[in-house]
Formats: sequence, C-alpha cells, structure tokens
Amino acid sequence: MNREDFIMLNKDIVYLDSASTSLKPKCVIDSMNDYYFNNTSNIHRGEYNEAILNNKLYDETKMEIAKFINCDKREVIYTSGCTSSINMFVLGYMKKYLKNGDVVLLSKSEHASNLLPWFNLSKEIGIKIKYIDLDSDYKLDYSSIDKLIKENNVKVISLAHITNVIGDIRDISYIGDICKKNNILFCVDAAQSIQHVKIDFKKYNISFLSFSSHKMMGPTGIGVLVGRYDLLEKMEPLFLGGDMNLDFESDCSYSFKEIPSRFEAGTMPIAEVIGLLNSIKYINNIGVLKIHSYIKELRDYLVSGLDKLDNIVVYNRNSDSGIVIFNVDKIFSQDVAIYLAHYNICVRAGNHCDKILKDELGVSNTVRVSLYLYNNKEDIDKLLNALKNIDKIYDIIL
Ligand code: ALA
Repeated sequence: MNREDFIMLNKDIVYLDSASTSLKPKCVIDSMNDYYFNNTSNIHRGEYNEAILNNKLYDETKMEIAKFINCDKREVIYTSGCTSSINMFVLGYMKKYLKNGDVVLLSKSEHASNLLPWFNLSKEIGIKIKYIDLDSDYKLDYSSIDKLIKENNVKVISLAHITNVIGDIRDISYIGDICKKNNILFCVDAAQSIQHVKIDFKKYNISFLSFSSHKMMGPTGIGVLVGRYDLLEKMEPLFLGGDMNLDFESDCSYSFKEIPSRFEAGTMPIAEVIGLLNSIKYINNIGVLKIHSYIKELRDYLVSGLDKLDNIVVYNRNSDSGIVIFNVDKIFSQDVAIYLAHYNICVRAGNHCDKILKDELGVSNTVRVSLYLYNNKEDIDKLLNALKNIDKIYDIIL
C-alpha cells in the first residue's frame, strides 16, 4: 500500500523491520525539510513570522494527538521517545506515589523500557513486581489478573498494548475496566500499537500512555507521554531549565509554568514535532482500521508460507499484528539475519530487548519479521524464496 511515498523502497530492498523503526513517507520528510530550509526558529521565544508559525504547528500537533487518541490537549507531553516517556512518569510520579511493598503487575513479554524503570523502583523503594501469567500462545492469561489483584496490594498495571516480540494485541478496554473497578493505575506502552490499532485514552481508563513517533512513520528523537490531568498535577518535572519555568529569583525561589509546559524543558525537537504532525495526518488519511486489516492479510500469507517450509518453527502463529517470530532448525537467528541481508532483506534477530521472555518461550533468540503498510506479498515471496535455499547459508555468509 502507498509504496510510492517511501523513497527508500526505490532501492532494491525488502524492509521487514518496522517494529524496530518504520520507514518515513516523503511528506513527513518534506515537512521537516521545510522547517529547516524555510522556517527555522525556536518556539515560545520569538515575535517574528517564522516563530509564530512554529508556535502554531507545535500546538496543532498536540491537538492532532489529542484527537487521535481521545484525550485533552493539556494531557499531551513531548518527550524524546517512548522510553523517556515511561521513565518520566515512573520517576516523576510513581516514585512518590508508590510505597515499599506495593505491587506492580507486568508481564514477561514486555520490552526492556517497560521493565527496567520498574525494576529500578523495586530497588529504590521496595515495590514488588509480579508477572501476569502467559498462556500457551504467550498471550496474557486474563484470569491471572483477577487472582493477582485478590492476593496482592496491586497499585499499578503496566503493559504493552501490542508486544514487540509476540505481537499479541492486549484487551486494553477489559484491563482498563478492571483497573477502574479496583482503583489501580493503568499504564499502557503503545509503542507497537499506536500505528496499528485505535486507542481511546479516556474510554480505556488509561492513566499514562507512552509512544514514539519513529514507529508511526514519524521522525526519531520525539515521543509522547499522555498523562491523566489529575496525575500530571502531582507529577514532578525531571528536567528544569528554559521554557518550563514561570519565574525564578536570586534567592533560589522558582515556579513552573502550567501543565504540560512544565514537563518540556529546553528547546524541544521542533522539526520532529512537525514531522510527527504529518505522520499522524498520513495515518489518518489512510485509516488505522484499513492499515490493520491489510497487515493481517499479509501476516496470514506469511505464516502460511512459513508453514510450507519444513525446517522452520513459528512461535506466535496465533497473534494478530504484523509481527512474526521464527527460527530455522539448527541455525542461529543472527546467522539467518545475516544471510537474509545478503538478499537485501531486513529483519531483526536476537532477543528483541525482551530478555525475560525466554523463561516462557524456551529460546532466547528468534528471527523477527515485522510488517507495515508499505509491505506487499512480493516482499514476503522474496523472504520465503530466500528461506527455501537456506541450506546454502554457510556458502554465502562465511
Ligand atoms: N522496540 C524496538 C524493537 O522491538 C526497538 O525492535
């Protein structure tokens, strides 16, 4: 779909690594170039035309995000990426709110960014981490959530909406209801879902939502934290400096600007904000539902092709997103990736930044294909053809 918008596809390349980062359409790159070529200025500091235009675009992007996920514009904070969004609310809010012995529910199929900040709190203030069980498809076992809540002092549930290795789509609406009923904060890592499925921040009772722009066809270096306004009122800014302060005096007194400006210290990534605005518009023009159903069709085509190859094990055949992980019998996943690179086929291999999923999966390394809207069946045929000849791997890569 829309392949002509992605200049990188003019190269002879099969890009199957979109869960790592997506390609960017020309309109996103053009919008950033326009800022650099024609309209460079800082924001919130100038009275000239370019500065006024950029103030407007900075604000318009927040409105577009608020519409996209149904939240209030004042609840949208720009960060440098999903990892920094999660660290921002864990350190700025949870560190104060949680006490020794409070329980946070995670799962073993979370990405490092939704594990390590919590592990840090367990060291620093003694919170307890418990893992929601996974079923035989490595998806959440929803019945274990109720059990864990009954048996523990659960204060927070923090989960990826779509996981980056298994690619399962969690029932965020259901978990949000459980959290509301039990007065539990609900944190959603939407890094892999924002570009694939519809998210409703208010309806799903989400407390904090994090995502990156670079996986949704926007630029790197910018992400978003959306926080429920009453929680943001209690969140501490992690960075102090320009643009986030209202006033300060020589006696060391200072005050912050209103929310969310107090969380955006220093010069923000303005070109990237403009790029993100255009990536959201691009997704909206196609429609998330259309993207999702197109990718499901491609995914089914890929899985049925892999099934026909007898030396391949697929681990997540029953997931619904564009992520498929597999191994080739007796060949290390990294070697498979190097072999595929020989045919200009880009995949990711390894543990994919989830180093505890191996407890459930039984293997620590897999080959991951992740699809997005610019992929087509020819891409998958090229992958399958290369895999058919994988017995020649060591003639090629050694
Ligand atoms: N989280 C990214 C991935 O899964 C980097 O590849």
